[in-house]
Amino acid sequence: MINKRKVIVIGAGGHAKVVADIILKSGDELVGFLDDNTALPSQIIGYPYLGKIKHYEKYADECCFVIGIGSNSIRKKIAENMNANWYTAIHPSAQIAIDTVISEGTVVMANAVINTSAVIGKHCIINTCAVIEHDNIIGDYVHISPNVSLCGNVKIGDLTHIGAGATIKNNISICDDVIVGAGGIVVKNIKDNGVYIGVPVNRMDVK
Ligand SMILES: CC(C)(COP(=O)(O)OP(=O)(O)OC[C@H]1O[C@@H](n2cnc3c(N)ncnc32)[C@H](O)[C@@H]1OP(=O)(O)O)[C@@H](O)C(=O)NCCC(=O)NCCS
Repeated sequence: MINKRKVIVIGAGGHAKVVADIILKSGDELVGFLDDNTALPSQIIGYPYLGKIKHYEKYADECCFVIGIGSNSIRKKIAENMNANWYTAIHPSAQIAIDTVISEGTVVMANAVINTSAVIGKHCIINTCAVIEHDNIIGDYVHISPNVSLCGNVKIGDLTHIGAGATIKNNISICDDVIVGAGGIVVKNIKDNGVYIGVPVNRMDVK
């Protein structure tokens, strides 16, 4: 029998609770939550609030960690400041092809599909019902929101956020630090960072 892993979630908001649910559904042990908001209740979905993130070292020998925070830049900052064993959370209902690479700390949510030869970087979020088609290359600290469709051979740079329901045409590259707004359709490569919205997307004016 495979031993249960003991897992602590960094963060304690809505996204963290979804990550916690994946840990439990995977048959692993949810030890609790670390978060810098000390006004949190003592229990979150029935599991303990363990204190500030800096206290992680107390648990580091026996636990692994996953960051349950939606902001890409905050996940990056936390990951770079912790010397930890990272847990990769994959919901049992996700459909993952046998030859995909999913790097440490990444979270794959319910009903996501990741198809053959895709490579997913570290500490990404592949959210509920997202479709990552064959041969996609996804950087680190990326968030692919619920119901996004990435067609075949798409490349997504580090720290990029693809908003809910967006569609990215096959063979498209999107550079680092881009936000594609919810519902956007991307039909041309995006080479400059910024926020892109619409059908097809255009760059939003900088305020
Ligand atoms: C694109 C986005 C980042 C812009 O956020 P923002 O800078 O706060 O923009 P605002 O809400 O101030 O809207 C500014 C304008 O853009 C429009 N707009 C905002 N988001 C849009 C979108 N996705 N598509 C089309 N237009 C959009 C607004 O209607 C508004 O138009 P107006 O100036 O004519 O009134 C945000 O709306 C978005 O889509 N985020 C993705 C959210 C998401 O998918 N989350 C998933 C979590 S799991």
